[in-house]
Amino acid sequence: MNRIFKSVGIVGTGRCLPEKILTNFDLEKMVETSDEWIRTRTGISERRISQADIATSDLATDAALKAMEDAGVTAGELDMIIVATVTPDTAFPSTACIVQSNLNAVNASAFDIEAACTGFIYGLSIGEKFISTGDAKTVLVIGAETLSKICNWDDRNTCVLFGDGAGAAILKEVEEGEGILATLIGAEGWKGQVLTLPAGGSRMPASVETVKAGKHYIHMDGSEVYKFAVNIMPLATQRVVKKAGLTIEEIDFLVPHQANSRIVQAAAKRLKMDSGKIFVNLNKYGNMSSASVPVALDEALEQGLIKKGDNVVLVGFGAGLTWGSCAMKWSK
Ligand code: ACO
Repeated sequence: MNRIFKSVGIVGTGRCLPEKILTNFDLEKMVETSDEWIRTRTGISERRISQADIATSDLATDAALKAMEDAGVTAGELDMIIVATVTPDTAFPSTACIVQSNLNAVNASAFDIEAACTGFIYGLSIGEKFISTGDAKTVLVIGAETLSKICNWDDRNTCVLFGDGAGAAILKEVEEGEGILATLIGAEGWKGQVLTLPAGGSRMPASVETVKAGKHYIHMDGSEVYKFAVNIMPLATQRVVKKAGLTIEEIDFLVPHQANSRIVQAAAKRLKMDSGKIFVNLNKYGNMSSASVPVALDEALEQGLIKKGDNVVLVGFGAGLTWGSCAMKWSK
């Protein structure tokens, strides 16, 4: 069978952020930290926290509905739902299947991806392949997290960094030469122990002892993650730009994973990119893992910072350790 590869692009985006804001000043009352320390070390001023009765699928569904409206797509048209998350509602069913049920998207396949902060870019890469080869027409990719539920609120090393939210995108066929030009995804699993959630899986099943020992929370060696990030962010950007047949000078806009403003600045410096071309909103939301990139993309579009024909790059890194990048010619 002859396969004709189609061009695939993002034709709609949406986001959902919980209303509750937790500021650095609020955190000063919870752990031994200061607004000054958090802002100067990370760039974060506040983050969103979901209510106790809200799960990841709730945020994901809301973001999806907005993306579908933006794209003019109905639930019945969805062929595939991919949810990137490290905070699924349950181990199974997948959060994607819960979203499918919420949307009544009866014609879609549905599955989760666990690539942490890079998950949304992994999802885009997979969705693109299905449409490109003709096996799907419309794919919904969501990055959604309720990290507040896996944060140890007594650990100042981690709890100041994270927030909750969801972002979504609809992928469809676009004009030839537009949309996604290249994607790259990768992992360095041998470095995985620097960022883990140790208990609750088959290696360390949940028990009274694991809960008492705080093993169901994020454990992170921040400086090792930092070293990985400042190296991989510029590298993954350079490599995907080259794969797309472009140069760094031709990139109009970069949407990086929003973990730490120092990581973003270091990447900008290595890439010799004007900081005006790089979107940052982590000051308002902290690190929302897989939700950071799609929320940032949706906000940048809303602010009119991306125009049709612009060369746009998404780049991320995360637990695994994973990394990914995506170069697009904006098609809408
Ligand atoms: N308030 C005050 N002091 C603090 C805090 C805090 N919130 N957190 C740590 N400190 C202290 C440390 O205890 C340490 O004290 P010590 O010197 O007495 O031991 C001191 O501050 C300095 O700590 P460093 O680790 O050197 O601080 P650094 O400048 O490296 O910044 C940070 C730490 C912000 C965590 C940085 O390393 C970082 O951003 N790393 C990357 C994290 C990341 O991107 N994670 C992504 C994970 S997302 C995912 O996939 C789920």
